[in-house]
Amino acid sequence: MKDLFGKAILDYQTHNSPENIITETTISEEDEMDVAYLFRPFDEMPNIEQKALELAKGKILDVGCGAGSHSLYLQNQKKLEVTAIDISANAVKACKLRGLKNAFVQDILTLENETFDSIILLMNGTGIFGTLKNTPKFLQKLKSLLNPGGQILIDSSDIIYMFDEDEDGAFEVPANSYYGELEFIIQYKGETEDSFSWLYLDYNTLQNAAIANGFQCELILEGEHYDYLVRLSI
Ligand SMILES: C[S@@+](CC[C@H](N)C(=O)[O-])C[C@H]1O[C@@H](n2cnc3c(N)ncnc32)[C@H](O)[C@@H]1O
Repeated sequence: MKDLFGKAILDYQTHNSPENIITETTISEEDEMDVAYLFRPFDEMPNIEQKALELAKGKILDVGCGAGSHSLYLQNQKKLEVTAIDISANAVKACKLRGLKNAFVQDILTLENETFDSIILLMNGTGIFGTLKNTPKFLQKLKSLLNPGGQILIDSSDIIYMFDEDEDGAFEVPANSYYGELEFIIQYKGETEDSFSWLYLDYNTLQNAAIANGFQCELILEGEHYDYLVRLSI
């Protein structure tokens, strides 16, 4: 991994001529993303993220923290004990520079020996599951990291709106795979990252997976653009 996403974050944090990140997926053309978005303060976050931060309590784990904006709010404003993890070494470096006390380079799948009251996964938190087939593995891992009475706050979107409809109004989704399974390509400063799988889940599919893996699943809030926030508990 070239860690281009993290490089963009660290460039932005250190004023090292940051540029936009270029993203492209299996179903969408190249699009530019302003790295500044990853540094959003509370009042510029989407409603569903603000809601997740309001509901977060106790000892927190922020999975895939990126530039650490959610963790910083919980640590500094809500004075909570926060652990932030990301597989991107550059992103974690930026989190530390921003003042996060407990930020670590860590893959969620290999995190052990610690449990939490609230686990947050935000900005399409299901993305890191990669595929529908991998989803149980991630849900089981997350479950093993929860304290009794704990909660997982995770967001995603139903991306059915990205597909064309045929003359009968049926969406032209792939026949052999779940339509929310995308391949992502990221480019930054002329370099291209290896493509990676990124999963969007519609609410029903997430609810089914959650129940099959022993969770209670509650739809907390729907956002303005097919996005939603869920609370999973045991
Ligand atoms: C879309 S970004 C979200 C960043 C942040 N949560 C936000 O809302 O700004 C997803 C992050 O998840 C990280 N990530 C991907 N797979 C991961 C894994 N298995 N364990 C921990 N972090 C992971 C990526 O490096 C990336 O920084």
